[in-house]
Amino acid sequence: MPTIAPKVLNAYRSELARVLKAGGVNEGAIRIAFQNLLGDAGRAWGMTVVAEQTLLVGSRKSLRFDGELRDSLNLRRGIWEAKDPADDLEREITSKIQAGYPTKNTLFENSRHAVLYQNNQRALSIDMHDDRQLLRLLETFFSYSEPQVDDFHQAVARFRREIPDLAASVAEIIANELKHSRDFKLAFASFVALCRSSLNPQTTEQQVEEMLIQHLLTERIFRSVFDNPDFVRRNAIAAELEKVITVLTKRAFSRDKFLASLDYFYKAIENSARTISDYSEKSTFLNTVYEQFFQGYSTNIADTHGIVYTPAPIVRWMVASVEQLLRDQFDSSLSDKGVHVLDPCVGTGTFMLEILNQLQNSTLEHKYRHELHCNEILLLPYYIAAQNIEHEFYDRMQNYVAFDGICFADTLEMEANKPQTSMFVAENSQRVQQQQDAPIFVIIGNPPYNVGQQNENDNNKNRKYPHVDTRIRQTYAKSSKASLQTKLYDMYSRFFRWATDRLGDNDGVIAYVSNGSFVEQIAFDGMRKELLKDFTSIYVLDLGGNVRKNPKLSGTTHNVFGIQVSVAITLLIRNRAKYPERQQAELLYARLDEWWRRGEKYSYLNQHTDYRSIAWQQLQPTSNGTWITEGMSDDFAAFIPIGSKEARSGSVGAEPTIFKDYSVGVLTSRDSWVYNFNSQALEINIRNLLIFYEYEKIRWKKSDKIDIDRFVNNDETKIKWSDLLKNALIKDIDINFANTKVRKSLYRPFTKKLIYFDSILNQRRYSQHKIYPNSDAENENISICVASIGADHWTIFVSNIIPDAKCGITGNSINQCFPFYIYDEDGSNRRENISDWALQRFQAHTGNSKLDKWDIFYYVYGLLHVPSYRERYAANLKLELPRIPLLAPAQFAQLSAAGRQLAELHLNYEQQAEYKLKHVENRAVPWTWRVEKMRLSRDKSAIIYNQALTLEGIPPEVYEYRLGNRSALEWVLDQYQVSSDKRSGILSDPNNLDDPEAIVRLIKQVINVSLKTVAIIKQLPVLA
Ligand SMILES: C[S@@+](CC[C@H](N)C(=O)[O-])C[C@H]1O[C@@H](n2cnc3c(N)ncnc32)[C@H](O)[C@@H]1O
Repeated sequence: MPTIAPKVLNAYRSELARVLKAGGVNEGAIRIAFQNLLGDAGRAWGMTVVAEQTLLVGSRKSLRFDGELRDSLNLRRGIWEAKDPADDLEREITSKIQAGYPTKNTLFENSRHAVLYQNNQRALSIDMHDDRQLLRLLETFFSYSEPQVDDFHQAVARFRREIPDLAASVAEIIANELKHSRDFKLAFASFVALCRSSLNPQTTEQQVEEMLIQHLLTERIFRSVFDNPDFVRRNAIAAELEKVITVLTKRAFSRDKFLASLDYFYKAIENSARTISDYSEKSTFLNTVYEQFFQGYSTNIADTHGIVYTPAPIVRWMVASVEQLLRDQFDSSLSDKGVHVLDPCVGTGTFMLEILNQLQNSTLEHKYRHELHCNEILLLPYYIAAQNIEHEFYDRMQNYVAFDGICFADTLEMEANKPQTSMFVAENSQRVQQQQDAPIFVIIGNPPYNVGQQNENDNNKNRKYPHVDTRIRQTYAKSSKASLQTKLYDMYSRFFRWATDRLGDNDGVIAYVSNGSFVEQIAFDGMRKELLKDFTSIYVLDLGGNVRKNPKLSGTTHNVFGIQVSVAITLLIRNRAKYPERQQAELLYARLDEWWRRGEKYSYLNQHTDYRSIAWQQLQPTSNGTWITEGMSDDFAAFIPIGSKEARSGSVGAEPTIFKDYSVGVLTSRDSWVYNFNSQALEINIRNLLIFYEYEKIRWKKSDKIDIDRFVNNDETKIKWSDLLKNALIKDIDINFANTKVRKSLYRPFTKKLIYFDSILNQRRYSQHKIYPNSDAENENISICVASIGADHWTIFVSNIIPDAKCGITGNSINQCFPFYIYDEDGSNRRENISDWALQRFQAHTGNSKLDKWDIFYYVYGLLHVPSYRERYAANLKLELPRIPLLAPAQFAQLSAAGRQLAELHLNYEQQAEYKLKHVENRAVPWTWRVEKMRLSRDKSAIIYNQALTLEGIPPEVYEYRLGNRSALEWVLDQYQVSSDKRSGILSDPNNLDDPEAIVRLIKQVINVSLKTVAIIKQLPVLA
């Protein structure tokens, strides 16, 4: 049995002592201390505490209590009721029980005494000052279970485990029937055609199979658990699927026999459902089925569609806030006739249920029949939502009315004014048409948040949405200065774009809970600017939980969705009728405590019923689309931009810049294939990849050429696909190995590799082919490279060969390189890349007409190393490319000279003297220079080079020279190791048989370079 660690109890005691000392009796704080104790202690049992809950008893009576225990499947396992220390606990308990409080597993306490009821009997009564008694009480409270709850847990675990096998058997049966049954083949083909014409033209046969599987495996839950025997008949889509299933089962297999293997699951659900009278509790099962089904069945679908239901406190807060906003700003209400509401990604229907719950009886039926709309693209949640919504209505009105507002449809395909094609079945088409025609006023929901795939071979892409994506290009992307814009096409930003367009020119409200990265990330600067234009008020409640930004947080503990990215609730209001003069929305922002756990965030939302009870901070967004300006220095804007997107593209009115053009390093999408320390290994890898490409190309030519993603062989030991390579294959382009494409590159700081530099095999060369078009350019051209906007750590380095986009960078960012020269692609037409405007400006400023562009180039390199510059403008440098101040003439000369010295050291590091290290040899093993993986000693003063050799005597200052999140020396140790790529199996081996001492030499040179760099930096001027 789990136990409670003594420190948990100690923490409670000290918190309580602090509260009592601080202000006598602060009842709220005493309660929170106990709530935290329940949360911390319950974790070992997998329990979370959700504060301020309501329980429905009987048909319409509800009781409020201070908190409840929820288990990992979100089932209610216990109730906690807190009383004030001065209250007479016994009297309070009697009155609560008389009021109908359940006593199955209920804990009453007043911080002095506690009483636990279990199975309707008093199980324990204790003095809370006694640690032993308190521990016993808590352990008994957490351990309480009921047989049907245990069965349910076991059944869900088994269900999740077995779903893949069951699904595979159905898939096998389908494959077999497609071969042998003409009837089924016809039924299946016409169903596929139906899905293509109505849901998605790119629907694959596999997706249709998935629908049949979802239907077959879950339909009984709706019929039996939810007492809806007519479900299949009543639901238009289910009826259509039944037809196909009937043909499938006509010959092939007995449906009942097949499903008998799932009996244990259905029975467990049925049993535990029977013990619960409250429907909302029952629908928790459905939520569980929703998540667990897809987690077990297909994590790909769970990922691309964002299968996770929205926690009730969030839904409640959002619906209450929208209701309040409607009252405050539009003098209307969700209950008013004419206020059409849409959830574009309804999932299990949580928002619709909460809205129904809020509506007044007098308008409920009208709203239900005509003004509530929602969409869902996956079959199972579509069934669940329909079931839930219809039941909620039935419960309120005691009358079954089919819910016509739900469409089985892809929201992002539903463009305004687009003539509606057939949507599956006539009934669904009609509903879609009705929704299209409706003057939607409120859009509310929880859009999916995934960003598409990282790796082309995973074949798990978000589908393309030509219309919405064009709109994003015309708006969010157009207004953006960011160089990487792929994130703008994330599903959730598409849903923002779609919803804004869905309002058309009308006033209205959008309320989403979604990935919150758009609030701060640089890629979304354009989206932020557009939102300010599109609306008149914006409220962002940042629920935090960004594990990538703060790795000390835990997704499962701190994030409200258990994910790694930040989550935000956004309320967008357009009220031009009330604020016709507003050019830009007022922007209100609030952020929950970074360290709050999920339960604490829920409690906060429960306690702050709607948007009015939040202490909003009014933000003053900058003209470049920054909303959160904390820590930024205003004078940065007065400096000269090193480069800008506008100046680069020659936009009229663009602010003049120092460099005319700039470029990210190369992003290959297949590093292990196209980079290598060894030229022969590189050639073999490229040739192998190309042979396989050729083979696939021939196969494709002979195929029906329908779906390239499904067609190609994704075996990563043979090839690494990218969309460029797939397009080349479709266009029948021959790709041949050429020696001239093998070029030198700076893969990571102080790590040179060979690259196969090719316009197809490198996914993005950006402008590097115009910076280093050939080897000649390597003798004269130099680029200053810095961490691009949004990088977690600042980086600055210099290169005279092709740099990789991730050189000096860790995390999701890339670098930006500012070269001295630019060429045409064939190497001709060399021109200087520092603008004449900058030359004149610097000459005038320093009063030195002899100053040339190289002086400016090195000044920039020197300045970007100045510690006071980097510290003072750290926040600005996260949001903008560097801006360069014009320092006094003497400082200019000093920095330019220092920059020249630094560049010379960094470019020619392999020619520098070696720092003397002590060689400590281990005679017990055979001698070798070969490196497998080097390690630093604990105090970092030595490198364990290999088993035979340790290099001692590294001075600590070496580590002060950092690029990104590592020192120069640590980059070398990290990169110079033998490793094999996990996916392709390709080996990376830095050992050079012709020059076995090369790595030791490099280490000593990099130590020397680091020390000299640190010494030069110490002499740099401090900014005034
Ligand atoms: C985060 S979930 C919604 C959760 C919902 N509020 C609930 O509590 O159950 C997102 C839902 O949107 C659906 N979805 C994703 N893309 C969609 C699209 N393009 N059109 C309609 N629904 C979509 C997914 O299948 C998923 O059920």
